[in-house]
Amino acid sequence: MEKIVINGGAPLNGSITIGGMKNAALPVIFASILVEDKCVIENLPNVSDVTRSLEILEAMGAVVERRADGSVSIDTTIINQGSSPAEIVGKLRASTYLLGAELARFGKARVGWPGGCDFGIRPIDQHEKGFERLGATVSRDKGAICLDAGDAGLCGNSVYLDFASVGATINVMLAAAKAKGKTIIDNAAREPHIVAVASFLNACGAKIFGAGTSIIKIEGVEELHGCNYAIIPDMIEAGTYMVAAAAAGGSVEIKNVIPKHLETVTSKLREMGVDVDEYDDSVVVSRAPETKMEPVNIKTLPYPGFPTDMHPQFAAILTIVDGTSKVTEGVWDNRFRYTDQLRRMGANISIAGKTAIIDGVEKLHGTTTTSVDLRGGAAVVIAALAAEGKTEIGSIQTLKRGYDDLVGKLKAVGADIEIIITDDDE
Ligand code: UD1
Repeated sequence: MEKIVINGGAPLNGSITIGGMKNAALPVIFASILVEDKCVIENLPNVSDVTRSLEILEAMGAVVERRADGSVSIDTTIINQGSSPAEIVGKLRASTYLLGAELARFGKARVGWPGGCDFGIRPIDQHEKGFERLGATVSRDKGAICLDAGDAGLCGNSVYLDFASVGATINVMLAAAKAKGKTIIDNAAREPHIVAVASFLNACGAKIFGAGTSIIKIEGVEELHGCNYAIIPDMIEAGTYMVAAAAAGGSVEIKNVIPKHLETVTSKLREMGVDVDEYDDSVVVSRAPETKMEPVNIKTLPYPGFPTDMHPQFAAILTIVDGTSKVTEGVWDNRFRYTDQLRRMGANISIAGKTAIIDGVEKLHGTTTTSVDLRGGAAVVIAALAAEGKTEIGSIQTLKRGYDDLVGKLKAVGADIEIIITDDDE
């Protein structure tokens, strides 16, 4: 079993290059099903969620070729409808995108129940509502979700989302891209990855307008064609290293980013007294280790609000900021499982409803911990970088789902971090 071991206290100095955004890469991979042609995707991050998504497509009959330049070509000319392997689908939240993609291509879909991080209830009612508005029926069969547009096929319609859900917005976009007529998604999610998926589909010949705003208009087209597409930089990976640099102290240049996507993270760090300098495609985060940070309050919201996927990392740094900070979760029902791990390290955190109340302590201390989910694991890594002594982090497969070479990237900027193999059970 692999564990990450961190000896805390080393300041971080140097530069880290950010890879492609996981949450854009995954829907683009599944969107390629609509294309019935070869697409070449560049800047795909080397993370296990991407590997699994490509494995699902291969198992369904697509030809996936990993090229020497790091790009991946995906030829979906042949895809067998309803043949996605349930055991991989069940490990991945993004496998919900198979629903919209299969429905768009075949007029029907059959997909096992999706997996992903446990944040409490993760309903798909808004996805289903969207499919129904376009004329599909939704049913369940032996744990699988089944959609059927019948003989009439999918027809464009208006779809109002009760919550600006990322997954539902992308799924309705996929289903509508080849439907007859026009679809309008109202209260659409506005995350940069929504824009990325729309840009990919438009590069393949789709007619999607307004992605990045809360009203998206889609004129269905009969056919799509292959394209070359580069995945945008991962704002959550970048944000994680920005917080790590602030927590450990030092000065780290985070390269290959879109600074606009990082505005909420940048402004919270500045409010805490951390220096953040922005350049065209990089940011530099600096804090002298003796500089005192200020407590802040955070509420997560859909984009352009503060990203829920940066909540645990900020909670981690705030545990060592003198004074009381509050982090309120505005997207998920229960995203606080990681707090137990920070408490093991000496953090003083209490939970009131959807708010973590954090009373800063002078120092955290290293101990044995677990990565409970992807961003919760990142929070423990950040805490461990700033802590006194040695921290062991187990269940690191959760981190590998979304961070490409986390250990190598942190080691290169001076962290005392390594992966060890142990015989322990988890
Ligand atoms: C995606 C991200 C995840 C991120 C989240 C919010 C991927 C693979 N995952 O998840 O990392 O935390 O966006 O930025 O991209 N909801 C409903 N009904 C639905 C769908 C969602 O009520 O049918 C609710 C959810 O319970 C949650 C909120 O909407 O409270 C946001 O969910 P959503 O934006 O759909 O998240 P995901 O797409 O699953």
